[in-house]
Amino acid sequence: MRRLGLIGCGRIGRVHALSISRNPDCTLSKVYDPSLANASQIADRDGATVAASADELIRSSDVDAVIIASPTNMHKEHFLAAARAGKPIYGEKPIDVDLERAAATILELRREGIPIMLGLNRRYDRDHATLRSELHAGSIGRVQSMQLASRGPDSAPTPEYIRSSGGFYRDKCVHFLDLIRWISGDEAVEIAAMGSVVADPHVGEHGDIDTAAIIVRLKSGALAHIDNARRATHGYDDRIEVFGTGGMIESSRLRRGNVTRIIGTSMQLDGLTQTPFERYGETYAAALGAFLDLIEGKPGQYPTMEDGFIAQAMAEAAILSAEQGRTVKLADITDRFRSGADAILS
Ligand SMILES: NC(=O)c1ccc[n+]([C@@H]2O[C@H](COP(=O)([O-])OP(=O)(O)OC[C@H]3O[C@@H](n4cnc5c(N)ncnc54)[C@H](O)[C@@H]3O)[C@@H](O)[C@H]2O)c1
Repeated sequence: MRRLGLIGCGRIGRVHALSISRNPDCTLSKVYDPSLANASQIADRDGATVAASADELIRSSDVDAVIIASPTNMHKEHFLAAARAGKPIYGEKPIDVDLERAAATILELRREGIPIMLGLNRRYDRDHATLRSELHAGSIGRVQSMQLASRGPDSAPTPEYIRSSGGFYRDKCVHFLDLIRWISGDEAVEIAAMGSVVADPHVGEHGDIDTAAIIVRLKSGALAHIDNARRATHGYDDRIEVFGTGGMIESSRLRRGNVTRIIGTSMQLDGLTQTPFERYGETYAAALGAFLDLIEGKPGQYPTMEDGFIAQAMAEAAILSAEQGRTVKLADITDRFRSGADAILS
């Protein structure tokens, strides 16, 4: 039975606490959040104790491993403190709001040599995984293009969240930039992006966007397109289509139910899942299971810090492209991390 500590008890912290409470192989022993109300809400429900600081939680002999769900601009501090204490880490994405700091974090973590899994949980979606395995089995030939749509339904984030998250490309698009690599098994060569503020003007007032279109050219020549929006009034609208030289596979939108009503000449289906946690709830639980396996030393494929770094570099290329109105080669972002003793990428 692994005893886990949770740092950060906000939106995603609550989701991780729920997954822990439903997993028979672990228990939540300590939580920390500077908001005592947020920490107590989870601790009272799950029988955990509230730590006075992140350090106290990390050092506690009641904590075998740490889940880091604090704001992105705090990740580096929390990742490094947990690693130095020798505690395995499940850390939320992205690694940091800044790519240089993300690189420095990875180098320091390597020196500590503890198991780490990054929270790229979309990889644990059942249908995305089926799509990937069938593609890799050759069912639709070579990838010609990919379409990844991810829309809402979150309402506009607070100014504080925008500031601490690094903005839409780093915070949200990073999941789908990662999925392009993971599903295709290919690497990005160049990226073109545009961002816009359409639904929530206040997002623009705080320097962010709510709508993004990103095109990625892969080494094979295949093109992938991400259509990403913060808000969708009709529910959580996510789907991935891979168009190949010999067919097409789609991981479709998830509906809440499977009831079809045909009345007169109209047909009505159940609508979409309404929150990210309803749409992707099972992926957080599956990712937790994978993390427990990683701690046990079981072989498997886990999203690594290097995966997170590449996805984040792709997000940086998208940001540069949108700012400068030009296509950006990924190598222009990543080459400086490829050589020397401190290389992040081989
Ligand atoms: N994998 C996913 O699908 C997913 C989804 C949402 C968020 N996230 C990531 O999780 C992280 C948190 O996002 P969120 O949506 O839960 O944000 P949130 O704003 O809802 O919650 C953040 C929590 O962290 C607390 N906090 C603030 N400073 C802290 C500190 N110094 N130490 C510990 N806790 C602190 C806040 O009080 C709050 O309770 C971000 O890095 C975000 O990118 C991942």
